[in-house]
Parts: sequence; structure tokens; C-alpha cells
Amino acid sequence: MSASIEIAGVSKVYDGGVRAVDAVAMDIRQGEFFSLLGPSGCGKTTTLRMIAGFETPSSGAIRVDGADITHVPAHKRDMGMVFQNYALFPHRTVAENVAFGLRMRGLDKATITAKVKAALAMVELSGLEDRRPAQLSGGQQQRVALARAIVIAPRVLLCDEPLGALDKKLRQQMQFELKQLQKKLGLTLVFVTHDQEEALAMSDRIAVMNGGRVEQVGTPTEIYNQPTTRFVADFIGDTNIFRGERTTTSTVASALDVGKGLILALPPTEGQGTGVLSVALRPEKIRLITRTDAATAAGSSAHGIVENTNFLGGAVLYRVTLESAHRVLVQQPNAGTSRLFVPGDGVTLEWTPADLVVLKD
Ligand SMILES: Nc1ncnc2c1ncn2[C@@H]1O[C@H](COP(=O)(O)OP(=O)(O)O)[C@@H](O)[C@H]1O
Ligand SMILES: [Mg+2]
Repeated sequence: MSASIEIAGVSKVYDGGVRAVDAVAMDIRQGEFFSLLGPSGCGKTTTLRMIAGFETPSSGAIRVDGADITHVPAHKRDMGMVFQNYALFPHRTVAENVAFGLRMRGLDKATITAKVKAALAMVELSGLEDRRPAQLSGGQQQRVALARAIVIAPRVLLCDEPLGALDKKLRQQMQFELKQLQKKLGLTLVFVTHDQEEALAMSDRIAVMNGGRVEQVGTPTEIYNQPTTRFVADFIGDTNIFRGERTTTSTVASALDVGKGLILALPPTEGQGTGVLSVALRPEKIRLITRTDAATAAGSSAHGIVENTNFLGGAVLYRVTLESAHRVLVQQPNAGTSRLFVPGDGVTLEWTPADLVVLKD
């Protein structure tokens, strides 16, 4: 049976004074695919190793199904772990590698053979029992590592950048397979990655980390559509961030003056106020049309010139310089009917004020 995990105000200060994890709090639900996402050095591995029991928190507590396990040794936690470098035993066969955890638990030979067989079938490696790791591809080695972790029927599976060494195609296939396996087994899975696309594609929920702290916890759509901080908006996908002073105009009650004549109407939900504010606007939320001479709608459109284009296949990314000199990214689908712009084209940008996301700094 899989478990829930509660991380309650956990900090980790390493010898030498590095505060790797700083007052992290989050609740991971039973059966959930939960990702820790953030740039290198933000404390993902340290957090995972504290859940696994390889590191002890300097303060705070970790609870599994409500029971405090902060000081329970790793081998008594019933957790499986998969590492980026696989950490397979090079001189042992696939079957021996997978059997390792079962032997440690003292199971009889027939049971071990049956469980190893079932685990290898689960990761689609049946028939490769007698190979050694060096005789396998990277993807197959990663599957062995996965089989070794799940064969003990852990309550929690912990994965530290497990797909980082694979090329893109294989990585996408393994993402799909790992997710299917996790759902099939009903496993609680904590997945560490610095790859935002991977986290968005795989997770039920994501914790975005920065400098040892959690910036935001949410579903992939929440994290992408409603980032709460500037860091999250910037780290997840491409985005345009504007910073300015709140103002009102004759036509717009609640707007942001971002300088050089550019005024952005704030979402209707914002209400009026004063002060400095940052907002994010995703490139695909902006419509790009051939420049019109008609006056632009107050607060939700602007004129500009295409500086350069980046053809992505299914979409085109444009960098546009506005008359206000702001540089803006615009993404348009590569639909059959819409024309593609080229550098130097005069364009008009239009957006919906409700698509602006107000950020905490
Ligand atoms: N054993 C250690 N001793 C001292 N500092 C460490 C140790 N492990 C990690 N750190 C430091 O803690 C911070 C977080 O590291 P880590 O958890 O590995 O981040 P991530 O996995 O997000 O890249 C980094 O500044 C790193 O250099
Ligand atoms: Mg790491």
C-alpha cells in the first residue's frame, strides 16, 4: 500500500554552513506523482535524500502516513530509490541486480525468482535476466534500476533525475512508461528534475524550488497558468514579465504603467490600487496581426516590429520590439491559414487583460 508524506518545516544545513534546504513544507498525497522542480543547487536532491533517510534534517520533521520517521534509518523506510547514474552492480547480471533488495530481506530462492521475473516483465525486460549492465543500452539500464526499486513493493518510490542521461526520444518514451507504471501500481512517487517540460508532462503536482525554498506547489496547469512569483513565471516556459506603477486612465480603471507610453490594463479581478507591480503574459496569449492603422485598444494592444523569428515546427516564436521599446515574445500556432511574419514586418499585438498574471516578487 502506498503512503502519504508530510514534510513539516524541514531545513538542512550541511557541515560548513550551506543551508541547502530552508524551512520546506509540503504534503505529498498517497498515490500521487509529485515532482520537485528547480535549477541546479536549489536543494532537490537534499530534500529527496532526507525523505529516503540518507540525510538527517537539521530541523523539522518528516511523517509517512502520519508517523514521524525523521530518525528511522533508510533501510527501514520501505522506500525504493532510482538514481540518475543507475548505480547498478556492474559485475552482476540483470536478475542479480534486481534480486538485491529481496536477498537483503532474506526471502527464499523460489520467491525471489518469481518476484524478479514479474518486475522485469513490468519494465519490459523479460529475457534479459542473464545480461550484465554493460551489455544493455542506457534506457535498458534505467529499466533495471526501476525494476530493482519496485521489486520490493515499496510504499514510496523516489527518483532523482532518473531520465537525465537519456536522449530526447528515449526520454519521452521512458516518461510515458514510468507514469503508466506508477499509475498501475498506485505508487506514491517523488520525482526530482530540473526539466520543466518533464515536470509538466508527468506530474500530478509540482513543487517549484529556488534557493532551498519552495516557491509554489500546484498542478502543472496551476504552475503554468497562475504562477504566483516572478521566479516561477520565469522558470516555467517562456514568458513576458512587465514591471510598473499602478495607475488609472480615462478608459481603463485599473492599469499598469510600464514606462515609455505602454499602459497595460490589469485583469478585471485586480481592483484599483497603487504601488509597484509585476505581471506575466505568456507568448501564446498574444495575437499577432498585420499592423493596422486603427487606434489600438487601450491597455490591451500595441504596435511593433518583428525583430526575429524562430520556427518551432508546430508554432512560430516571434521577438517583437514595441513602439515603447519593450521587447516581447509572441508565439503563434503554425496553422495553415495564418501567415508567417518575417523580420521587419509591422505588426499589431492584441491580448486579453484577464490573461495577465499578477506576481508576488
Ligand atoms: N554533502 C554536501 N555537503 C555540503 N554541501 C552540499 C552537500 N550536498 C549538497 N550540498 C549543497 O547544497 C545545495 C543544494 O544541493 P542539492 O540538494 O544537491 O541541489 P539540487 O539537487 O537541486 O541540484 C548546493 O549548494 C550544494 O552545493
Ligand atoms: Mg540534484
